Amino acid sequence: MAEKRKNFTSKLGVVLAAAGSAVGLGNVWRFPTEVGNNGGAAFILIYLLCVLGVGVPVMMSEFLIGRHTHANTITAFSKLAPGKWWRIEGVAGVFVAFLILSYYTIISGWTLYYLVQSLKGSLLVSQDYSAYFSSFVSNSYIPLLYAVVFMLMTHLVIARGVQSGIERFSKIMMPLLLLIIGVLVVCSFGMPGAGTGLRFLLKPDFSKVTASVVLSAMGQAFFSLSLAMGCLCTYASYFTPDTKLVKTAFSVCSIDTFVAILSGFIIFPAVFSVPNVNPDEGPGLVFVTLPHVFNTAFHSLPLLGYLFSGLFYLLLLLAALTSAMSLHESVTAYVIESFNIRRQKASALVSFCCMALGVLCSLSFGVLSDFTVCGLTIFGLFDFCASKIIMPAGGLIICLFTGWYLDRKLVYNELTNGETVPFRMFRVYVFLIRYVVPIAIILIFINELLG
Ligand code: TRP
Repeated sequence: MAEKRKNFTSKLGVVLAAAGSAVGLGNVWRFPTEVGNNGGAAFILIYLLCVLGVGVPVMMSEFLIGRHTHANTITAFSKLAPGKWWRIEGVAGVFVAFLILSYYTIISGWTLYYLVQSLKGSLLVSQDYSAYFSSFVSNSYIPLLYAVVFMLMTHLVIARGVQSGIERFSKIMMPLLLLIIGVLVVCSFGMPGAGTGLRFLLKPDFSKVTASVVLSAMGQAFFSLSLAMGCLCTYASYFTPDTKLVKTAFSVCSIDTFVAILSGFIIFPAVFSVPNVNPDEGPGLVFVTLPHVFNTAFHSLPLLGYLFSGLFYLLLLLAALTSAMSLHESVTAYVIESFNIRRQKASALVSFCCMALGVLCSLSFGVLSDFTVCGLTIFGLFDFCASKIIMPAGGLIICLFTGWYLDRKLVYNELTNGETVPFRMFRVYVFLIRYVVPIAIILIFINELLG
C-alpha cells in the first residue's frame, strides 16, 4: 500500500523547498556562463524582465494546479481536465524530469569530484585545467562513481519522504548555501580584478543584444526557475490550504534571481583577477576557468585557495542536491501514486533507472563521444530535447491550460485561498498568461527552428 500523502509543515519549509528546487546548477554554473556569452549587464536586465513577465506568472500557474489537485503532475492534469489531452503536459513533465535528472546527476557528480579534489589539495596543483577536465570527464569509471554517490544522496532524502526528507533537508541546506554565498562574495570583492569584474556585470552593453540573446534569457529563466516540468507542481501538491501562492512565487523567484546574480558577483571578480582569462569560456567556466583562477590568484596563499575553491564547489553541490531532489520527487510521486507502491520502493526504482540512463550520458564524454544523433552526443541530445523543445512546449501548454481552459473562478479562488488573500494584479496575471507568455514562447520556437 502506498503511504498517505503528507504536506509541508511550515511556510519556511515551503519557500525553502521550492527555492531549493529553483536554485541549482542553473544559477551558479549556467547563469554566469550565459552572462559571459551574452555581454554582461544587458543580459541581466533582460533576464530580470523575463523572470517578472514570464517566470512569476508561470510559477503561479504551476502552484495553483498542484495545490488544487493535491496529486502528482499527471494525475493533476487528469483531475482538472478528465479525458482531455491536457494530460500530455503531465506525461511530458514527468518524462523530462527523469531525463534532466539523468544528466543533472552526471554534472553534479563532477562538482562532487572537484570538491573532493579541492579538499584533498590536489585540485590546485595542475598546470593545464583544460586537459585536467577532459581527462576526468572522458574517463569511463571515475565520473560515474561520483554520480552514483550523488544519486545515493538524493535518493536517501527522497526515500524519507516529504516532511522528514525534503522539508527537513531543505531547511538545513538552503541557509547553509546562502551563508556560503555570502562568504564567497566578500572574498571575491577583495580580489584584484573586482573592479573590472563588477563593471562587466553592471555596465550594460546594448549593442550585444540580439533576438537570440533575448531568447537565451528566457530559456535561462525557465531552466533556473524549474518551470514547466511539473517539479513545482508536485511540490505545490504538498502545500497547505493557507499557503499564499502569489507571495510564495514572488519569494522563490526573488531568491533564485538573487542567488544567480550573487554567483556572478563571486565568479566575475575572480575571473578578471587573472590576465588572459575570458569570461565567455562556455560551460567550462566553473570546471576549467575557475580552478585556473583559484590556482593563479591564490598562488602565494594556497591555503586560502583551498578554502575558496572548497567552499565554491560545496556551494555548487548543495545547490545541485536540492534541485535534484525536486526532479526526483516529481517522478517518484507519480510512481507511488499510479502504481500504488511504497515510497522506498518507488524511489529506489527511479534512482536505479535514472542512473542507468546517466551511464550513457557520462560515457558520451568518453568512449561514446563518437556516437552522435543529428550531430549531438547523447548528453547534448538529452539537454537539447529537454531544455530547447519539451520545456518551452510545456510552458506553453501550462499557460494555455490556466489562461484559456481552466475556469477563471477556480484560478482566482486558488490564488487567493478562497478570496481570503487579496490579489489586485489578477488581471495583469491573466493578461500575461493568456497573451504575453504564449507569444513569447512561440517566438522562441520559431527562432529555434530557423536558427
Ligand atoms: N532549476 C534548477 C537549476 O537551476 C534545475 C531544475 C530543477 C529544473 N528542476 C527543474 C530545470 C525542472 C527544469 C525543470 O539548476
